[in-house]
Amino acid sequence: MQKVLITGSEGFIGKALARGLNSAGYDVVTIDNSESSKSTYKSDIKDRKILEIFSKEKPDLVIHLAAQIDVMQSFKDPIEDLGINGIGTLNILQAAIASKVSHFIYINSGGAIYDPLSELPIVESAGIRPLSPYGISKFIGESYVRILCEENGIRWSSLGLSNCYGPISENRKGVIYKFVEGLSRKESPVIYGEDMTRDFIYIDDVIDAITKTFDRPSNCRINISSGLETNILQLFLKIRELLGSKIEPIIAKPRFGEIQRNSLSNSLALEIIGWRPITSLDEGLIKALELES
Ligand SMILES: NC(=O)c1ccc[n+]([C@@H]2O[C@H](COP(=O)([O-])OP(=O)(O)OC[C@H]3O[C@@H](n4cnc5c(N)ncnc54)[C@H](O)[C@@H]3O)[C@@H](O)[C@H]2O)c1
Repeated sequence: MQKVLITGSEGFIGKALARGLNSAGYDVVTIDNSESSKSTYKSDIKDRKILEIFSKEKPDLVIHLAAQIDVMQSFKDPIEDLGINGIGTLNILQAAIASKVSHFIYINSGGAIYDPLSELPIVESAGIRPLSPYGISKFIGESYVRILCEENGIRWSSLGLSNCYGPISENRKGVIYKFVEGLSRKESPVIYGEDMTRDFIYIDDVIDAITKTFDRPSNCRINISSGLETNILQLFLKIRELLGSKIEPIIAKPRFGEIQRNSLSNSLALEIIGWRPITSLDEGLIKALELES
């Protein structure tokens, strides 16, 4: 069985991935710097001692998830954002190259990097035009992966995720959590633009996509998405109905730096890694809201 190193293993996607790979019998090594980290190594991905971890563990495969992921925070502190997502990625990448990993999997954001004027659903060959420091730093990370892996003959993949959601007890952020949290406190959630849309993909489908990538390095970016555009106001109304609430949302102006509409084509994922999502939004919401008996 391959030895897999996961960065960002205490986060929403990292925890689910580590759990899935452990139960599938993979030899899993994890790195995260969060306060409550239960990872194998409690380390900052920017720290030069990462090199020692890699030379000791010698993983076959790296899945790089650790990142600053908050778009608004990336405006407040773009230097910190670039430090984690740019320098941190470069540090992990150099350690992976020095320890001769066979495949580097970078987890990118499909929502934040493409030109927002691209035709929907956005294909991987669409133009790149991030609207936020987060989008810039995620694309920079991928660019380092592409160039340095190719220079060193290392196979790589980049997965451009759309909005990933899952059980709210495991992910206390994102729009679905905010709606549920607001409704439970009887507060009106704010929706930034009546026409705002997103592409929602359930966590189990994302873990399945990452796992399917292991033996099919693409040396390119593949979108991992539902391919469907979901209106955020409609999403709110669905959640409100599921929770039996009558609270009205507040519709505010779109926020600077946030794309208004998004959906990502998933045709390339089917072609290259044989993946397609299986969880519909209706099924996923029942699981996310933990309404199953
Ligand atoms: N969740 C989504 O909808 C989504 C969508 C597109 C892309 N992504 C990408 O997926 C990845 C994981 O996202 P997530 O939702 O699990 O995020 P998350 O915030 O839940 O997890 C990120 C983890 O990285 C760790 N981390 C942050 N800075 C670090 C550092 N300097 N050193 C070590 N660890 C550090 C954090 O402690 C956290 O546990 C990110 O790269 C993100 O850009 C996520």
